[in-house]
Amino acid sequence: MKALVLCGGAGTRLRPITHTSAKQLVPVANKPVLFYGLEAIAAAGVTRTGIIVGDTAPEIREAVGDGSRFGLDVSYLPQEAPLGLAHAVLIARGFLDDDDFVMYLGDNFIVGGISGVVDDFRRERPDARILLTHVPEPTAFGIAELDGTGRVVGLEEKPRHPKSDLALVGVYLFTPAVHEAVRAVRPSRRGELEITDALQWLLDQGYNVRASTISGYWKDTGNVTDMLEVNRSVLETLQPRTEGSVDEVSEIIGRVRIEAGAKVFASRVVGPALIGAGTVIADSYVGPFTSIAENCLVEESEIEYSIVLRQATVVGTRRIEVSLIGNSVEVTPAPRTPAVHRLVLGDHSKVQIPS
Ligand code: G1P
Repeated sequence: MKALVLCGGAGTRLRPITHTSAKQLVPVANKPVLFYGLEAIAAAGVTRTGIIVGDTAPEIREAVGDGSRFGLDVSYLPQEAPLGLAHAVLIARGFLDDDDFVMYLGDNFIVGGISGVVDDFRRERPDARILLTHVPEPTAFGIAELDGTGRVVGLEEKPRHPKSDLALVGVYLFTPAVHEAVRAVRPSRRGELEITDALQWLLDQGYNVRASTISGYWKDTGNVTDMLEVNRSVLETLQPRTEGSVDEVSEIIGRVRIEAGAKVFASRVVGPALIGAGTVIADSYVGPFTSIAENCLVEESEIEYSIVLRQATVVGTRRIEVSLIGNSVEVTPAPRTPAVHRLVLGDHSKVQIPS
């Protein structure tokens, strides 16, 4: 069995919280979302992995390399334009050969990995297997309709009038039957060859498409609440470890990981929390469900249930909660007088200030 990981798509600048233009590299608990997918593939016992890349190929190659770090053997398959998920399967024909494969969308996050569904697929070997999850906004996904016995009867990409709230999760298991399907489909309304349409084609031809419903699914939609929630769920499973240094007057409580070169002085860190490599925490409180990325400075501050991205500085702030602080952001106290706000805010920023 092989893996096909999709990291194509146009490089769009995401909301102000990240410098990367590849949505697959958005960090979750200090690690690119794509890495969780690659780890899940390796854990499922799959090694040969093709990564479909587009505009952001250099960033993806730089981050993943030859895949050996994940226990994978990675080849890169360039897609000249984002022409759809079924198009990605088309161009990967040579790489995939006649093997079964798991297709994994690099910006999807599956809590608990994919070993269970890969094992089910290997055992039962239907023509295709899909994963579904309940979503609040069905118009933004491929949507499945099931009959009373849970069998898939229809699939529709981004329906205007969804027949259910069961979205196709970005993990698909295929036998080589899919190759005929991706050759048969025509471009959709958005001009792409949709894998959803290829799956519908398989159903129409009487192929056996099985589905299972999962919980614990996340995809970055630019929603900060969701981002904090997925960060929380990953921190819940953190292996506590101290590679950096903690001075004698500091207190570390619960599941806390302090990465290499991080320094904690005169502070209290209550887990689950993650302190990135090279970060300095001084005279501060870091509370549960907080991820602080690499090379940050948190000084004379209190922060909880928040995400701080690389090289950010938080100094002299009484209490920060439920916040997302971007790369190289500086949060510092305003001078006491005159009572003004001094703001340098990126596009689409949202700030709450006392009025
Ligand atoms: C794609 C698929 C869609 C699926 C989604 C999951 O959408 O077309 O069916 O539900 O991935 O991430 P896209 O990301 O192209 O909008």
